[in-house]
Amino acid sequence: MTGRRGPFSLDEVYLGDSLELMPGVPSESVDLIVTDPPFAIDFRARKGNYNRAGDRVLNGYCEIDRDDYLAFTTQWMAEAFRILTTSGSVYVFSGWSNLKDILIGLDAAGFTTVNHLIWKYQFGVFTKKKYVTSHYHILFAVRNPKRYTFNKIDHYPEDVWEINREYWKGKVKTPTKLPLQLVQKILRYSSNEGDLVFDPFLGSGTVAVASATLNRRYLGFEIVEDYLRFARARLARITDSPPPV
Ligand SMILES: C[S@@+](CC[C@H](N)C(=O)[O-])C[C@H]1O[C@@H](n2cnc3c(N)ncnc32)[C@H](O)[C@@H]1O
Repeated sequence: MTGRRGPFSLDEVYLGDSLELMPGVPSESVDLIVTDPPFAIDFRARKGNYNRAGDRVLNGYCEIDRDDYLAFTTQWMAEAFRILTTSGSVYVFSGWSNLKDILIGLDAAGFTTVNHLIWKYQFGVFTKKKYVTSHYHILFAVRNPKRYTFNKIDHYPEDVWEINREYWKGKVKTPTKLPLQLVQKILRYSSNEGDLVFDPFLGSGTVAVASATLNRRYLGFEIVEDYLRFARARLARITDSPPPV
């Protein structure tokens, strides 16, 4: 099955700046956005990647300057609101340092925040004078609080999710990869088979990979060529032999 959204083919990932590409996505054409945007921290992908050998970590990860972060966030979120269907929703990952900008951006774009989820994970970093950061924020927001997709899979779906980070089996690693299980959980709750799932900051491609494994359509943008190549290789491996879901 093929399909298009404006100039973009479905089940495809594109190289480019999301701020430039998103205006090409037609209004009200995307069912769900799941994204882990750049954090505007001095992220040393090669050096600070805890127990991983630096030379095998994909570098070139694109960061945003701290001073530009609110304007950047407000701009992409306004586009996110425009392209979502009226029953669509967005899940935005955020560390605590830029959470304020993410919350302001969601409000400014017109979203209603439904849940503030906490993703709790293991993080074996030694600290001397502070607590070890072992959680991430996930903001679940909708266009229309009266009508949005929510498949109540568990009887009491709680807002704290404990899911471990994945161990990379391959030779090349990316520093910010989300666990597939985590993204699949979001997709099961907030989309249905055949829905279009979009990630404007694709990184290693987890959102597209999770969508393909659950029979959702996907579209993704990534500004760094090495990351896009990496995501395409992951997607090609699924097409060759679908992984167990
Ligand atoms: C936190 S990572 C995403 C990680 C991803 N969820 C995964 O599982 O691998 C953010 C990604 O956004 C990309 N990026 C930064 N600015 C961008 C922009 N303006 N347009 C598109 N991609 C961008 C970065 O290069 C990085 O790969």
